[in-house]
Amino acid sequence: MKILVTGGAGFIGSNFIRLLLQETSHQVVNLDFLTYAGNLENLQGLEKNKRYRFVKGDIRDRKLVERILAEPVDALINFAAESHVDRSILDPQSFIQTNYFGVAVLLEACRKTPVKIYLQVGTDEVYGPILKGLADEAGPLNPSSPYSASKAGADLLALSYHKTFGLPITVARMSNNYGPFQFPEKLIPLFITNAIADQPLPVYGDGQQVRDWIFVEDACAGLLAILEEGQPGEIYNLGGGNQRTNLEVTQFILNELKKPKRLIKFVADRPGHDRRYALDSGKLKKQLGFEPAADFENGLKRTVKWYLENRNWWRRVKSGKYLEYYRTQYQKRIGL
Ligand code: NAD
Ligand code: DAU
Repeated sequence: MKILVTGGAGFIGSNFIRLLLQETSHQVVNLDFLTYAGNLENLQGLEKNKRYRFVKGDIRDRKLVERILAEPVDALINFAAESHVDRSILDPQSFIQTNYFGVAVLLEACRKTPVKIYLQVGTDEVYGPILKGLADEAGPLNPSSPYSASKAGADLLALSYHKTFGLPITVARMSNNYGPFQFPEKLIPLFITNAIADQPLPVYGDGQQVRDWIFVEDACAGLLAILEEGQPGEIYNLGGGNQRTNLEVTQFILNELKKPKRLIKFVADRPGHDRRYALDSGKLKKQLGFEPAADFENGLKRTVKWYLENRNWWRRVKSGKYLEYYRTQYQKRIGL
C-alpha cells in the first residue's frame, strides 16, 4: 500500500513512519509544513529509504494535496495539526485554520481522487472532562479549548464525508502520548528536560488533574491496526489505560532523575483546564484485537533515558522558535 502521512515530521507522525518502514512493506509519502513542531531530525536515517519520500507543504494547499493524491495513494493518515492546548489559548485562529480547514481541504481532495482509507487522528480531549468512569465512542462531545473544539469539528466533518459522500473515513481518538521525539512544550518532555537542567517544573493549579498515558510506540501500533483493519464510518478510542495525576507523573520524573522536590513550582492554572480524561478502548480490543503493550512506569523510564541520551536534539529544539514563545507568552501567563 502507498500511504500519505500528513504531519509526519512531528512527534507521533515520525514514530509512525518509522514503524511503517521497519515493520511493513508499505510505501510512505510524508507531507509536512515543518512548523515549529515539525523537525526532519525526527526522521534522520530514513531519507535514503526507497520506500520513503518527503514533501514540504501545507495541508491547506489544495493544489498540492490534489497533486499528491493523483499519484495515486491508497491510504491517507492525517496527523497534521497544531497540537498544544496552551498555544490554542494564545492563538486560536491557527488551530481553526490547520485543524479544521486543513482537514476540509484533505477531504475535498479525497472526493476528487478517492483513497481506500482515510484515518483522521483525533483526541480524547473532544469528550471534555470525564470526572467519573470512562468515555466511550458514543459519549457526547464537550470540548473545552479551541484546540479540542477544532479537533472535534474535524472528526465530525470527516464523518460527514462518509455519510454524505461515502468516503472511507475512520477516526481514532487517542489519549496522551509520551515517548521519544515529543516536543518539549508538553508536560512529560518539558519536565524531564527542565529537571535535567535544574530548572523549575511549572505544575498548573493543584496538579491533581488526571491524564491517561499511552507510550507512543503502542499508539502507533494501534493506529496501524485501525488503518489496516478499521471499518469505514467507525470511531475507535485508543487509550493507554494508565490514569495518573500530573503530580504523580512529576514525582516519578524527579525520582528517576534523582532531582529534589523543590524543583516543583505550583503556578497559575490553565484556563478551561479539564480535570480528568479516561478512555474506554474496549471497542478497539473487541473488534480489532488491539491492546497496548507498555506499562506506564517502564515506558516513562525509557522516555527519561531517551531524553538523557539525546540532549543535543532537545537543546536545539529548545533554543529555536519555541524558546521565543516560552519566554514571552507562556512564562508570562504562568508567572515564572
Ligand atoms: P506535533 O505538534 O508534534 O506535530 C504536528 C506536525 O504537523 C508537525 O510536524 C507540523 O509541522 C505538522 N503540521 C502542522 N501544521 C501543518 C500544516 N498546515 N500542513 C502540514 N503539516 C503541518 O503533534 P503530535 O503530538 O505528533 O500530534 C499528532 C496528531 O495527533 C495531532 O493531530 C494531534 O491532535 C493528535 N493527538 C496527539 C496526542 C498527543 O498526546 N500528542 C494525543 C491525541 C491526539
Ligand atoms: O489527551 C490528548 C491530548 O494530550 C492531545 O490531544 C494533545 O495534542 C496533547 O498536547 C495532550 O494535551 P494535554 O493538554 O493533556 O497535554 P500537556 O502535556 O500540555 O498537559 C498535560 C497535563 O499537564 C495537563 O493537565 C496540563 C498539565 N501541565 C502541562 C504543562 C505543559 C502542567 O501542569 N504544566 C505544564 O507546564
